[in-house]
Amino acid sequence: MGKMERFSFVALVAGVIFFLFADFVSWALPMFVLKDIPMKTKTDLAAEAKAKNYSAWADFEKLARYYPEQFKKFCDYEEKFAGAGKVSNCAPNEETFAKALAIGHRWYVAEGCWNCHSQDVRPVSNETLRFGIPGVSNTVSYPSEYQNELQAPVLWGTKRIGPDLIREAAVHDIDWQVAHLYDPASTSPGTNMPGYPWFFEKNKDGKLVPNERGLAMLVYLQWLGTWEVKPTKEWALK
Ligand code: HEC
Repeated sequence: MGKMERFSFVALVAGVIFFLFADFVSWALPMFVLKDIPMKTKTDLAAEAKAKNYSAWADFEKLARYYPEQFKKFCDYEEKFAGAGKVSNCAPNEETFAKALAIGHRWYVAEGCWNCHSQDVRPVSNETLRFGIPGVSNTVSYPSEYQNELQAPVLWGTKRIGPDLIREAAVHDIDWQVAHLYDPASTSPGTNMPGYPWFFEKNKDGKLVPNERGLAMLVYLQWLGTWEVKPTKEWALK
């Protein structure tokens, strides 16, 4: 056997071994890392947001206050697509929050927001500075953030036309999010994000307001990364 022939044989065998090893690691490692982290349901996430007074909870209450009629409609609304029906007690409570997360998440997936947005801050390229919450969190994403129903399958995304959204909670306030969702260019001139006017409708006074799905989407967006935001007194007062 010539020297080169031996080399290609060794390279082939090593290649196969590395391939099998990579395959093994790609399912064994996540299993090992995640096995002790409980899988949270939407109800768990809502209870946590309320109990820990997350920033998303304040945003949720604000939306209910800004758009009381829309909020009432949202409570009665049935969204079979997201498995969400009417709620028993219409108020900004855990049940309505969980419903908003369910619907918002379903429409985030259905609208293909993940085509342009990732949900994963990596420990490279200053991502913590680029996508972190200014002055609040500059943490890299960690496994337990993904052990919940809204990340099954994970919404890491494949490319970033727009910014990463896993730390979106306190990057902008809720008013900004409302305007941006309707017409992104109104807050971000030159953006190539399309507007989503079908998340809005006119109320009886002819004013543009978020519809049931719009409210849910806004809650979902402000929930992303809310666990990394430390509650401040300011939110309670606003
Ligand atoms: C064609 C690509 C594209 C699609 C699809 C898209 N976006 Fe965007 N998005 C962008 C770009 C580019 C920006 C940055 C400029 C801006 O603020 O509009 C952005 C910004 C954002 C921001 C603000 C991010 C920040 O931290 O400043 C949010 C929130 C957002 N998008 C949500 C959504 C949601 C929700 C959907 C789906 C309903 C969506 N996007 C679909 C391209 C996209």
